[in-house]
Amino acid sequence: MVKLSLRALVAASLLLVPTVQANLNATEACIQISKAISSSSEVFWPGSIHYGQDTHHWATSSSQLSACSVEPGTAEDVGKILQIVGSTRTPFSVKGGGHATNPGFSSSTGVHIALTRLNEVTYHAVNQTATVGAGLVWDDVYEGLEPHGVNVVGGRVTGVGVAGFTLGGGYSWLSNQYGLTVDNTLSYELVFPNGTVSLVDSSNPDLLFALKGSAYNNYGIVTRFNFKAYPQGQVWGGLLTATADQLDAVNEATLNFSNNVTDPKAQIITAYNFVLGEPGASILLFYDGPSPPAGIFDDFLAIKAFTKDVKTRSFLSLVQSSPSDATSNQRGAFHTVSLLEYTPALIDAIVNETRFLGPRLGLASATFLSYDVEPFLPSIFAKGTTKTASYPPSRAQSLLPLNLYFAWTFSAADETIRNAIVQSAEQITKVAVSEGQSISNAPLYSNYAIDSTPKDKIFGENLSMLQILKAQYDPSGVMDLAGGWKFQ
Ligand SMILES: Cc1cc2nc3c(=O)[nH]c(=O)nc-3n(C[C@H](O)[C@H](O)[C@H](O)COP(=O)(O)OP(=O)(O)OC[C@H]3O[C@@H](n4cnc5c(N)ncnc54)[C@H](O)[C@@H]3O)c2cc1C
Ligand SMILES: *[C@@H]1O[C@H](CO)[C@@H](O)[C@H](O)[C@H]1NC(C)=O
Ligand SMILES: *[C@@H]1O[C@H](CO)[C@@H](O)[C@H](O)[C@H]1NC(C)=O
Ligand SMILES: *[C@@H]1O[C@H](CO)[C@@H](O)[C@H](O)[C@H]1NC(C)=O
Ligand SMILES: *[C@@H]1O[C@H](CO)[C@@H](O)[C@H](O)[C@H]1NC(C)=O
Ligand SMILES: *[C@@H]1O[C@H](CO)[C@@H](O)[C@H](O)[C@H]1NC(C)=O
Ligand SMILES: *[C@@H]1O[C@H](CO)[C@@H](O)[C@H](O)[C@H]1NC(C)=O
Ligand SMILES: *[C@@H]1O[C@H](CO)[C@@H](O)[C@H](O)[C@H]1NC(C)=O
Repeated sequence: MVKLSLRALVAASLLLVPTVQANLNATEACIQISKAISSSSEVFWPGSIHYGQDTHHWATSSSQLSACSVEPGTAEDVGKILQIVGSTRTPFSVKGGGHATNPGFSSSTGVHIALTRLNEVTYHAVNQTATVGAGLVWDDVYEGLEPHGVNVVGGRVTGVGVAGFTLGGGYSWLSNQYGLTVDNTLSYELVFPNGTVSLVDSSNPDLLFALKGSAYNNYGIVTRFNFKAYPQGQVWGGLLTATADQLDAVNEATLNFSNNVTDPKAQIITAYNFVLGEPGASILLFYDGPSPPAGIFDDFLAIKAFTKDVKTRSFLSLVQSSPSDATSNQRGAFHTVSLLEYTPALIDAIVNETRFLGPRLGLASATFLSYDVEPFLPSIFAKGTTKTASYPPSRAQSLLPLNLYFAWTFSAADETIRNAIVQSAEQITKVAVSEGQSISNAPLYSNYAIDSTPKDKIFGENLSMLQILKAQYDPSGVMDLAGGWKFQ
């Protein structure tokens, strides 16, 4: 391994030569930006603390060294930045919470736009909506809304960005009750690629459809979201971890929950892990109320837990009880399978994947494999206040997105591990299909899918409409200079 990584270092330092030259050009654009923006905004250079924070990502493989970072403080300044990178054709990136695991989706070697200063949380009691800045992570939003006794449909674990999450779809602890985050997003403040700031709402149904679930940065940069808000009190739940000897009990509890529990306030995530040379499970329990009705979580509470932090608490405290930060700051990849149901054979196949791949990928510097089983109610796609959205591309059939996450140390292993996660998803798909699940063509969730996924596997029949709208709103291809799923 050491030999391999040394070779990778040499290769990387050779690659830096052309990158540095390209950056000279982007540095020009940075200087232009620093002259054009208002005093609410600021450009930061490599070596500064802000630059370090701005370019940081949850997965280290998602970061690149940009020529500068810029923190716009207003939508108008976002517009000026877009005009400059557009007219100079400078590669750029847009970062919300930095949780993308696909390399280059929110990083670049050019101008890195970090939205952190767009940090408003305003609750409008008059119509039960909340305005949320695009630079926030969900923790900030829950904290800001808690004093009002309300909440919005957002992320389930700590640190995830509002922007990418919402622009991709959004599976929440509240989704069984209210639908996905896109179903609860009423309007968007969007800066078009030409720099014009506008409000996109139901008066522009085409663009609203595109922004609801498929956009990322294709149509410009979103600076604010307006969400439907709901009353929120204390919740119950938290994290349980279990070692390999408890997996039978974990499997039984997970299957029973997934197939039998119909209370929309109840939810779980069972993450089958391989860590420190052993399979195991991390289980998050959630109930939207101070205590759950008798029975629902009994099987989970009967597991001989290795650690257990389950109690009545605030929504924010529950979100922060998750272990997601413990597995960050490594190279990382996500991928996904869209399932219709969980069966004993499917759970066995998932556990077998961890046992089979864990030791093998360990040799390639993998530190952590995780398969997150996220059962939702079959009615999940039918909830929400508005239903016209590009994710999911079809609501005919509710889907359960299984989230695969692999973490590793050395860049030399990128290809091996990224190939393995794709193969592992294929293996699970095969088992589900052999059991009669018609999922071979089921759309994959864009926020979980690896970047090699063909776009029609994600956006389905809506892809051509999304491409037509992209040509209409970004005729000079400004947004093609940034990473993400692209509709050019
Ligand atoms: C630990 C962890 C937990 C997660 N949990 C969940 C979960 O419970 N449910 C779920 O549905 N998903 C979940 N996800 C997936 C998550 O939704 C995506 O990773 C999401 O894209 C993250 O958003 P971000 O703003 O943090 O990402 P970023 O990396 O900042 O951005 C992602 C993409 O969106 C673009 N973008 C960002 N901000 C803007 C903007 N303002 N305007 C236009 N484009 C923009 C970026 O350019 C990039 O292409 C999780 C991911 C992680 C790593
Ligand atoms: C970057 O280089 C290209 C091609 O040489 C040139 O057209 C463009 O003007 C340069 N941009 C800046 C900001 O220097
Ligand atoms: C809700 O009220 C706020 C504050 O008056 C207003 O700005 C916003 O447009 C309203 N939202 C909707 C969807 O009516
Ligand atoms: C669902 O509940 C029934 C009755 O309690 C039980 O017999 C069955 O085993 C449960 N299903 C699963 C998958 O555990
Ligand atoms: C399954 O779930 C039901 C309903 O929540 C519960 O009553 C029962 O005890 C659970 N266990 C089994 C093995 O069925
Ligand atoms: C376990 O997984 C491996 C890799 O996907 C596969 O080749 C093998 O057939 C699986 N074994 C069982 C018993 O499912
Ligand atoms: C999106 O795709 C669905 C089919 O999956 C189709 O019914 C719908 O009309 C499409 N919408 C647009 C705007 O293309
Ligand atoms: C900018 O783009 C938007 C959306 O395409 C368009 O409505 C607006 O007229 C454009 N503004 C200018 C100044 O060209």
